[in-house]
Amino acid sequence: MILKMETKLIKIQDENDERLEEIGQCLREGGLVAIPTETVYGLAANALDKDACKKIFAAKGRPSDNPLIVHISDISQWASLVSEIPQSALKLAEAFWPGPLTVILKKSDLVPNETSGNLDTVAVRMPSHPIARAIIEKAGVPLAAPSANTSGKPSPTNAKYVFEDMNGKIEYIVDSGDCSVGVESTVITLATKKPRLLRPGGVTVEMLESVLGEVEVDSAVYSKLANGEKAASPGMKYKHYSPSAKVIIIKGEFEKYKEYVFSHADENSAALCFEEDAKKMGTVKTVTYGKESDSFSQAARIFDALREVDEIGATTAFARFPEMSGMGLAVFNRLVRAAAFNIVEV
Ligand code: TXA
Ligand code: MG
Repeated sequence: MILKMETKLIKIQDENDERLEEIGQCLREGGLVAIPTETVYGLAANALDKDACKKIFAAKGRPSDNPLIVHISDISQWASLVSEIPQSALKLAEAFWPGPLTVILKKSDLVPNETSGNLDTVAVRMPSHPIARAIIEKAGVPLAAPSANTSGKPSPTNAKYVFEDMNGKIEYIVDSGDCSVGVESTVITLATKKPRLLRPGGVTVEMLESVLGEVEVDSAVYSKLANGEKAASPGMKYKHYSPSAKVIIIKGEFEKYKEYVFSHADENSAALCFEEDAKKMGTVKTVTYGKESDSFSQAARIFDALREVDEIGATTAFARFPEMSGMGLAVFNRLVRAAAFNIVEV
């Protein structure tokens, strides 16, 4: 059981803010701090301290076999965490770090099993958010940081949603405003024969292939794992990103979508649609997630929109189907999990 503690919420906009000193100290001493990153807010602890990492799992209600991503502020920290850094990994780091890319390699003995979920690999990323980097530097240790939501809920892209999930469970929440990318980092493993994408995110498959040549996309990115199938990324097997409302994705052009919603919606429904659709939905309540032709705007909104569906009291949300290329693949991946793969073609 976790004892209720006082969670301090502090607003920090400047990476030279003196209060980052006490945040760093708290992390060094084994505390939990929610930190901003360019993707989503993370729930950080000293990645090399197994007891601190155990507290992350308790605060989130996270299954212990779901490994954590280790965040570094300087490339020199990478070598001690992994057994070897191949050329391909260095090329990725050169092209995309700091930024929303996580690279999985065989781990070193320094990384506790609590951090790696008992796998022999470790996921590492160097975030670009200046406050995230300042906090890692002040802590002086690499930081394990999953998204700062209760396990299963949409990842938080602002401090308000972190507070809803984590108040009373962690020492600090550092509020630096909204996250710019809005979905979590791309996860790629180089611990397999061929580079393999495990989770789509801010660095697209096309971008990865421009550096590595062909990249395999794990089938769990698109579709549900078959019964008994082993997840390459343990996170993929759990129900994910769900609001309390039931989400149904309606695949088809706008007019067909609208017809479907009009014939199925009641006063407890919401249309989870694009901005340009909202004014055409009649009396149906709407929550928008970006512009139809702009996957980046959809990514920035998708998690907030899923939480807003609950906030307006909707129990069913009819979602429009996003474009699946580029950044859209990351949006699709999150939405289809929120919908438990429930897609209706119209
Ligand atoms: O953008 C992000 O990556 C955010 C921010 C806070 O940095 N963090 C994040 O962490 O999304 P989390 O724990 O919510 O998602 C990590 C995902 C999970 O699906 C996990 O299973 C997978 O990465 N993962 C971590 N280490 C792995 C490993 N060694 N092998 C396979 N999958 C791994
Ligand atoms: Mg997460």
